[in-house]
Amino acid sequence: MQDMKKNIIIKNASQIVTSSGFSAKFGREMSDLKVIDQGEVVIENGIITAVGNAKDLPPTERLDNFYVIDASGKAVLPGFVDSHTHFVFGGYRPDEFILRLRGASYMEIMSYGGGIFSTVQATRKASKDELINKGIKRLDTMVSFGVTTVEGKSGYGLDHDNEIKQLESMVELDRIHPVDVARTFLGAHAVPHNYEGRPDDYIKYLIESVLPEVAEKGLAEFCDVFCEEGIFSVDQSRNLLLEAKKQGLKPKIHADEIVQLGGAELAAEVGAISADHLLQASDKGIQALAKAGTVATLLPGTAFSLRQPYARARYMIDHNCAVALATDLNPGSCFSESIPLIFALSTLYMGLSIEEAITALTINGAAAIGRAKDIGSIDVGKKGDLLILEYPSYNYIPYHIGVSTVEKVIKDGKLIFDKRQTSPH
Ligand code: NIG
Ligand code: FE
Repeated sequence: MQDMKKNIIIKNASQIVTSSGFSAKFGREMSDLKVIDQGEVVIENGIITAVGNAKDLPPTERLDNFYVIDASGKAVLPGFVDSHTHFVFGGYRPDEFILRLRGASYMEIMSYGGGIFSTVQATRKASKDELINKGIKRLDTMVSFGVTTVEGKSGYGLDHDNEIKQLESMVELDRIHPVDVARTFLGAHAVPHNYEGRPDDYIKYLIESVLPEVAEKGLAEFCDVFCEEGIFSVDQSRNLLLEAKKQGLKPKIHADEIVQLGGAELAAEVGAISADHLLQASDKGIQALAKAGTVATLLPGTAFSLRQPYARARYMIDHNCAVALATDLNPGSCFSESIPLIFALSTLYMGLSIEEAITALTINGAAAIGRAKDIGSIDVGKKGDLLILEYPSYNYIPYHIGVSTVEKVIKDGKLIFDKRQTSPH
């Protein structure tokens, strides 16, 4: 492996592929990939200091203390950013999967006290150490798919102590695991049983008794809400998100997932950093997102797993939205860390080109968590977060259906995964 060498150089790459830049790509910009043949990337102290065709860069012999990777016959891309997950949770729900195979719907299962509530019970029971240990395993799986930054949400506590426990577990995971963990407060994921029939009171409780501590301790950068028929209305969601904004958290919304409720319109109105799911989003809502510059984060694994129609990605890109793609990893609607699945679904079934899908999983994913200045592309000054494919071209990513094509992952300039040597970090 890399030993103690602080710097890294990747040479002879058949392609360096990146959606270059420092902000989200909208509409047609999403297909502008920069492809450098015979490329070289230099990372010093964790930061990219040079990238280009070898003949345009100064000779690398001047550089001491470098770990050299020969990427002949291989393509190099930015590390993937999985910008929407619920990866910290207790318990599992395979029984619900079986119920859904037999025809039960996601909301039906929830209305009988299963679904999110079942995971809330298990997460409340779990200790912080248990959550952290399971989190490490899930992050290791993500790394094997080329993910170098992940967003994780709370929302399986639904009370002060357990929401804080989930967020603190993610703070610790961010510290001990090479993958960066961006945190989102999703206390408004469901109305807990002790507030049944009183969603307004529960929102008030979150605003008064949980949000201030989350904000003060910097436990989360974002505040999300499940804005859905029978969960939280548009008005309740607006109330929470405006308050969160006042307290310094950036709004996100689980919007128009099951019913067309106006979640996309609300996201644009409150200046959300992203609106997520959007399976049922209206034309007007989509156009409002494009205008507001809110990233439209699509989660095709969830539509696939729930057997719902996919979000209208093509319409969104054609109407100048910035589209991101993410897994939505969670124990209910989509129990999968699989980036290869997301590539397969988005290119084969949602009408995205391979170039657009790469942009959606790199720079636009970074923009969805406010990090496009630091990650999401191979540009000088950004973090040295890269992946090396087993194949010479990025076209192999979706072509090798449902299988990871990632051979090596480099995070902050360190080799953290090598398929040929197995052990992740
Ligand atoms: O994004 N829609 C709400 N939340 C998650 C699912 C959470 C769960 O079922 O545990 C989602 O699909
Ligand atoms: Fe989600």
